[in-house]
Amino acid sequence: MANPAENSGDFAAILAFWRDAGVDEAMEDAPVDRYATSATQPARQTAAPAAQTGIASPAAPAVRRAAEPPVAPVAVPLESPAAIQDARAVAAAATTLDELRAAIEGFEACALKRTAKTTVFCDGNPNADVMIVGEAPGADEDRMGKPFVGVSGQLLDRMLGFIGLKRETDFHITNILPWRPPGNRTPTSGEIALCVPFIERHIALVKPKVLILAGGVSAKTLFQTNEGIMKLRGRWFDFRPDYLQTAVPTMAIFHPAYLLRSPAQKREAWRDLLSIRQKLDELQKK
Ligand code: URA
Repeated sequence: MANPAENSGDFAAILAFWRDAGVDEAMEDAPVDRYATSATQPARQTAAPAAQTGIASPAAPAVRRAAEPPVAPVAVPLESPAAIQDARAVAAAATTLDELRAAIEGFEACALKRTAKTTVFCDGNPNADVMIVGEAPGADEDRMGKPFVGVSGQLLDRMLGFIGLKRETDFHITNILPWRPPGNRTPTSGEIALCVPFIERHIALVKPKVLILAGGVSAKTLFQTNEGIMKLRGRWFDFRPDYLQTAVPTMAIFHPAYLLRSPAQKREAWRDLLSIRQKLDELQKK
């Protein structure tokens, strides 16, 4: 009999294949013994009856399939222009953050919702002057249901702490996407387009005095530009989209996950933070 240890290279290759395909987590908290479950369950589907096939197959093996999760019906195809219209209507109807959260949790047209564990809505103080918008939840955020709670979130909290901003009291934080893209892949333009009405409504409801866009996806999406983060970061824009009644001073900064990979950029990030502190001090004097 083959020694399983001799095949460990094969197992590692298979695991690497699934990880690269975005399947990087067990979906259940405890392992499931599929042999035990299948022994106690009747077969769901058996071979086609002889009358249909014309071939009698008394010994044909039963085909067992794991029960598939029910898929909620959607009125329109996923990520279609009609789905985007739907998202706009649902977002516009929300008059409070609680209503917006409920609207997002009930929205079924984004495929990401089916692979995510939770809808990650927001954290921090919704009445704070500062609002921060990142890209999308990662694995930790998906598990805990809150934005920026993993390592990059911890770095962001430390960075903002340097300029006197605490999450509980001084800023409100959310993402462009409320659902984690599988394997943390970059969200597609279709997924982003579908979620934009929700983040726009979110900003309109919070009415921040200063808006900070963490990373290129957030900056490009809300500024509606193809310019990269290298060009956008560190500059103040009087951001006045249709959905805001007054212009909001807005700055893009490097994403903390990028800073973890490229610590040499922390110097620039520090400059941006000081500029944010200065802007807040100016606004407080007014
Ligand atoms: N990166 C983000 O952009 N948002 C999170 O919530 C976590 C990591």
